[in-house]
Order: sequence, then structure tokens, then C-alpha cells
Amino acid sequence: MATQPLPEWLDCTRWKTPRWKCAIARRTLSMPLRLALKRGWLLPQHATLDFGCGRGDDVKHLRDRNVPCVGFDPYWHNNTSELQGSDTVICIYVLNTIEDSTERIQVLQFVWELARRSLILAVRTDGKGEGTTSIGTFQKYYTREEFQQFIVDSLGRVKIVPLRSGVAVVQR
Ligand SMILES: C[S@@+](CC[C@H](N)C(=O)[O-])C[C@H]1O[C@@H](n2cnc3c(N)ncnc32)[C@H](O)[C@@H]1O
Repeated sequence: MATQPLPEWLDCTRWKTPRWKCAIARRTLSMPLRLALKRGWLLPQHATLDFGCGRGDDVKHLRDRNVPCVGFDPYWHNNTSELQGSDTVICIYVLNTIEDSTERIQVLQFVWELARRSLILAVRTDGKGEGTTSIGTFQKYYTREEFQQFIVDSLGRVKIVPLRSGVAVVQR
């Protein structure tokens, strides 16, 4: 993957809003990954990639739990050599920060291509509609149905395992 030409949207200098500012420091594992871990979707024998990992705290918390995880983020951890096919790919709260609907589909298809076994997704559902935040970033809030439909429209007939509102695993 790292030798293929990389998509333009991986270049954060081209983004319309400073999406990286949405990345918070995490003192504990994020809710979607706590849930995925509890349900057995994150395992020590599965190479895991956290795509759009932000500051990388979830990567550290998963390693502490013996899940072999690497992270990539166009702004915070721009090490494209990590963009390799992985057993599990995580894409948590990334898609909802992307202003352009076509790019949201492209990113989802890109991470699905990297996922050998499963793709863990999370989007924001704690609001309505979409718009610019007080720090100049973009947020799109999904309804449960909209999120499910977005996955189907982007990836076709795939097996989706909902974990809770806005959190799902797509399984090969
Ligand atoms: C809300 S933060 C989430 C960070 C991390 N996943 C977490 O939950 O702590 C969104 C992250 O997505 C990254 N991002 C935005 N657009 C992206 C894209 N097209 N490809 C990869 N990462 C992207 C941003 O740089 C930012 O760090």
C-alpha cells in the first residue's frame, strides 16, 4: 500500500478545515474501542491499524492491553509506511470531521481495502445535521439509520455488526 500513489485527501494542507484540532487527548481507551475490546473484536493475535489516530492515545492504550496496534494520522502521525493491510482497521470519529461527502465515501472505501478481517467504525451521533464548530472544524452528526445506510452505499453488501449508536464493526 505504501508504494501506491496516495490519495490527495491524505494531505492535510489541502483540507478546508483544521480537522486535526478535533483530536483530543485520551487518558483512557475511547468508548468505541472499550466496547470492541469487550466484545472480542480486538485481539492480541490481530495486527491492528488505527487510521486517523489523532494524538495516538488509543494506540498506546491498546498496546498496554497487548493488542499490537500502529497508528496513522495525516497531521499527528504522518508515517505512511504504516498504511499496510491489517487484520483489524480502526477508524474512530474521523469520517464525521470530513466536510466533503465524496471524500467520506473514499476514506471509508480506503480503510475497508486495508482491513483483512474487520473494520471498526465510529461516528458522532450526539447532535443534529452538520456545520462548523466554534474552533472552525466541521462536524457531521449521523442518525443510526443514516450511518448504516452510509456504510451500505459506500461498501455494498457487507456484514455490519452494530455495537451501539454510531459504533459498528464491518466484517469480511
Ligand atoms: C476527532 S479526531 C479523532 C482522533 C482519534 N481517532 C480519536 O478518536 O482520538 C479526527 C482525526 O481524523 C483525522 N483525519 C481527518 N481527515 C482524515 C483523512 N482524510 N484521513 C485520515 N485521517 C483524517 C484528523 O487529523 C484527526 O486527527
